[in-house]
Amino acid sequence: MSCRKKVTVPAIISKKRKNKKIVCVTAYDATFARLVDEGGADFVLVGDSLGMVVQGHDNTVPVTLEDIIYHCRAVSRGLRRAHLCGDMPFMSYKISPEQALTAATRVLQEGRAESVKLEGGVEMAPTIERLVQSGIPVVGHVGLTPQSVHSLGGFKMQGKNGIDRQRIIEDAKAVAEAGAFCIVLECMPLELAGAITDSLSIPTIGIGAGPLCDGQILVLYDMLGMNEGFTPKFLKQFAGLGGLVRQSVETYAEEVRAGEFPAEAHSTSLTDTDQTAPQLLYSTTNKKAALH
Ligand code: KIV
Repeated sequence: MSCRKKVTVPAIISKKRKNKKIVCVTAYDATFARLVDEGGADFVLVGDSLGMVVQGHDNTVPVTLEDIIYHCRAVSRGLRRAHLCGDMPFMSYKISPEQALTAATRVLQEGRAESVKLEGGVEMAPTIERLVQSGIPVVGHVGLTPQSVHSLGGFKMQGKNGIDRQRIIEDAKAVAEAGAFCIVLECMPLELAGAITDSLSIPTIGIGAGPLCDGQILVLYDMLGMNEGFTPKFLKQFAGLGGLVRQSVETYAEEVRAGEFPAEAHSTSLTDTDQTAPQLLYSTTNKKAALH
């Protein structure tokens, strides 16, 4: 596991210079946040993907600012080392730079995030500048921008033709020049992601963009195999948690129905000798969470 020193924005930027890959993943609650932090993630995103994997929507459009703030607060209680980034949800930042500043302020103040991520390229440059000048670190996001799912006609690979590739390159350049400290490249050919990575001084974080990016990000539930039916080419399932959860509940159900659980070992009797000892009913392993 990596060292436990807090991952700051300058530390993330310097990883590119030092040729060290940046490990990013999403999280939506304190327990998973603690686990991914202990697992060595550098950067944790409370992504608006929560609209799909937590709330069960077909896309990220229904996610609200309140949702992001709520989940950021929960995740912040589980993190000790990793950087916490909050995703700016649909239409919470596109109306004007001032609207974006008000929303981003809430994500940092109420959600306890340390940066915000927003989708878009050239057209978002004035907004990124406004946030960065106000001391809010910004992560850009170009290529497939899921909040534009309806305009794009679905979640599709971007940069397939030359005009599209040129537009994505210009978008990434504008985001970097506006002051973003890193940028997500989503669903594009690896050659395009590699060319953007080489041309920018800020780190690129890829998802479905091949191995040439400075870091990688995956949606936690997808990489843990909780959505077994979701198997796009770019995804690797690092665990089979979906099957494990289902199987565990099946065993639990069988044991409860058979009267096998709880057994004597899980029960307390009046005749137990340490009746006077204080009982710790709930785990206090996550002491930081318990304090909030
Ligand atoms: O919402 C999200 O989880 C994201 C990542 C996939 C980059 O935007």
